Amino acid sequence: MEQFLEFKNISKAFPGVQALDNVSFRADGGRVCALMGENGAGKSTLLKILSGDYQPDEGHVYINGEVKSFASPYQSIKSSISVIYQERQLMTAMSVMENIFLDDLHENKLGFINKPLLRRKTQEIIDVFGLPIKPTDIVGRLSVAHQQMIEIMKAYRRDSDIIAFDEPTAPLTAGEITILFNLIKNLKERGKIIIYVSHRMAEVFQISDDIIVLKDGKLMTTFKTSETDEKSLVKAMVGRDIGDTYAKLRRNEEIGDVILEVNNLVTEYIHDVSFNLRRGEVLGFAGLIGAGRTEVMRAVFGADPVSSGEIWLDGKAVSFKSPKNAIDSGIALCPEDRKEQGLILGRSIRDNISIPVLSKMKKRLFLDVKKEERLAAAAVSKYSIKTPTTEKLMVELSGGNQQKTILGRWTSEMMDTKVLILDEPTKGIDVGAKAEVYQMVHDLASLGIGVIFISSELIEVLNISDRIIVMHNGHITGEVTRHEATEERVLELAMKD
Ligand SMILES: Nc1ncnc2c1ncn2[C@@H]1O[C@H](COP(=O)(O)OP(=O)(O)OP(=O)(O)O)[C@@H](O)[C@H]1O
Ligand SMILES: [Mg+2]
Repeated sequence: MEQFLEFKNISKAFPGVQALDNVSFRADGGRVCALMGENGAGKSTLLKILSGDYQPDEGHVYINGEVKSFASPYQSIKSSISVIYQERQLMTAMSVMENIFLDDLHENKLGFINKPLLRRKTQEIIDVFGLPIKPTDIVGRLSVAHQQMIEIMKAYRRDSDIIAFDEPTAPLTAGEITILFNLIKNLKERGKIIIYVSHRMAEVFQISDDIIVLKDGKLMTTFKTSETDEKSLVKAMVGRDIGDTYAKLRRNEEIGDVILEVNNLVTEYIHDVSFNLRRGEVLGFAGLIGAGRTEVMRAVFGADPVSSGEIWLDGKAVSFKSPKNAIDSGIALCPEDRKEQGLILGRSIRDNISIPVLSKMKKRLFLDVKKEERLAAAAVSKYSIKTPTTEKLMVELSGGNQQKTILGRWTSEMMDTKVLILDEPTKGIDVGAKAEVYQMVHDLASLGIGVIFISSELIEVLNISDRIIVMHNGHITGEVTRHEATEERVLELAMKD
């Protein structure tokens, strides 16, 4: 019999927001149901109800017509549900095999683990995925992409009937996305119910059969993927026609002198990297994930040790011992992985935005709270961060709204930035907010700031940058101007040794 999952009249409120408002829909086995909507629309909340992390205020979940209630994640797993969260939930100090078999280890009341068996079973799963990792590798030492794949392996291992993915591809390389999509196709053929949350249009059109659109916690529309197009989908999500973002971009055309020059930079991860950046320029860094772009920027920012090479900022040779030195000299870096770098989850939006400029906000000995509030409120409005107040804790924000807060921190008017480095700034943010970020980048460039924009989304780098540097395997493989750049040319460089 065909399996099916139903959400009936689900509502869930948090202080100040109705995260879900009477949501009902059905997902059928053998199909991929995509869940789309702006940041804060309620997608992750819905999945957390399915996973037993949250209880709905109203409504119920049904599986094959039978009402279910999950008082805990454990009960959800027992009902053959696996949810792969937006935030990774791995035990980073443990091995790959311990992570993959974590729930089984828990059940083993004897406290005895058959390691050779565990290793063999884990290797079988790794082989299915075809990844270069070992069962005994410590998870915390693996790349973010491989950590994400381990989350997916965990779900695969359980062989659940219902599998929900919350933005699974955000940290993955092109090769890993192919592996994931083949896996999803296989799960689909086996009649599984698949829920897929993503902000990436192309992916949703490639992998889904049905699309459910949420907005402000309400179900707006459902589409059959084959019967809709990107434009209609965006319109349903945003509530208006946003048109061609890139065509509407007001670019900065005034490019000045060199502000940052990097010569023959070498670190543990990168070889002989040289480039320069001009005032008012938007310099794109393209490449496949793992090409070394983040590593270059970490070295420039004083976050990783430099073995040799020179960095010149505004005509002076610099060598930063720590990110604090770099920030004081006018370099800001908005990091890629908001979870591991930069965000203080237990603190408010306001605290997270004001951190780098706290010393400038003193009124005599005390913090000028009003000034701090103005700064935070400006970011909330600039990026439409969905929150009732600036006091809301970061942990309580949706993934995309956390990303926007980080952007707000590094682009606030008090930053005095000369060089702004944005590492995958649009990861996980919705279509409307992406347009705001592109415009913000060019507005900052118009003020004379040199902006470095790292992105793995080729179309985005091509459209937003004045010049593009391409990296592969820790070194620069080429450079193209905006006018010369084509997808083919950049891809070719991204794969060149
Ligand atoms: N634990 C929580 N406490 C307070 N508010 C919360 C909590 N979890 C979610 N919210 C709020 O509920 C709303 C919906 O959040 P949710 O995480 O479901 O959004 P989302 O659609 O997944 O967005 P994104 O695309 O940014 O990940 C947001 O306004 C968010 O701030
Ligand atoms: Mg989410």
